[in-house]
Amino acid sequence: MVENNNLPDHYNDIDKIYDEIWSRLKIGKKDRNSEFHQCYVASTGNEFPSVRTVVLRHVNKDQLTIGFHTDVRSNKINDINNNSNVTVLLYDHAAKIQVKINGIAEINHKNTNTEAIWSNIRDFSKKCYSVQYAPGTNSNEPTSGYPDQYEDTLPPPQELELGYENFAHVSIAVKAIEWLYLHQNGHRRAKFTINPEHIDRQWIAP
Ligand SMILES: Cc1cc2nc3c(=O)[nH]c(=O)nc-3n(C[C@H](O)[C@H](O)[C@H](O)COP(=O)(O)O)c2cc1C
Repeated sequence: MVENNNLPDHYNDIDKIYDEIWSRLKIGKKDRNSEFHQCYVASTGNEFPSVRTVVLRHVNKDQLTIGFHTDVRSNKINDINNNSNVTVLLYDHAAKIQVKINGIAEINHKNTNTEAIWSNIRDFSKKCYSVQYAPGTNSNEPTSGYPDQYEDTLPPPQELELGYENFAHVSIAVKAIEWLYLHQNGHRRAKFTINPEHIDRQWIAP
C-alpha cells in the first residue's frame, strides 16, 4: 500500500469512495460549473450504441436514483422504451475521477412526478420543450426548432405551458457504479453492486 500524505482520504478506503461518488453527484446536480453537471447517457440504439450529453437533474443517494430531463419525442426515449438498461458516464478532468453507472431507466411523462418538476422549471428551460418539431426531425433549412416569432424571445406563458406535453423526466434506478481515480502513485478502481439487502464493494484492477 502506498504511503503519501498528499493522497485523498478515499484513496485506499472503499467506503469513502462510495460516499465521495454520491457527494460529487449531488454537487454536480446543484452546481452548473461542476464537471458532474453534465453526464453522458448511453442507451441501446437500433444499429449502433447511442450516447448523448444530458444535464444531471436529480440525485437521491437513499433511493439510489439519478435522473435527467428530456423531450419525450427524442430518440433516447425510443431506445429506453425498447431496452431500459442505460449506462451513465461522468468524468471530472481536474479531479481525475471517472464514474460509470449502470441502471434501469424509467420514463415519467404527464404524471405526478413530472407535474411537480415542471412547476419548478424556469421559463427559459420550458421553452426547450415548446419546439415545434421533435428533436432529430430532418429539416431542409438550418433550424432551432422554434417557430420564427419565438426565435429570440420567450413564448407567452400559455404557449410555454404547452411544452409540458413534451416534457419527460427519466429516472434511473442505479444498479452498479464503477469508480476510477487516476493518480501517479497508482490508479484506483472500485465497483459497487446494488443488491436488495446490501451493496457489494469490490476493488478491481484499473
Ligand atoms: C451540454 C449539453 C447539455 C445537454 N443537456 C440535455 C438534457 O438535459 N436533456 C436532453 O434531452 N438533451 C440534452 N442535450 C442534447 C443531447 O445531447 C442530445 O443532442 C439530444 O437530447 C438528442 O438526443 P437523442 O437523439 O439521442 O435523443 C444536451 C447537450 C449538451 C451539449
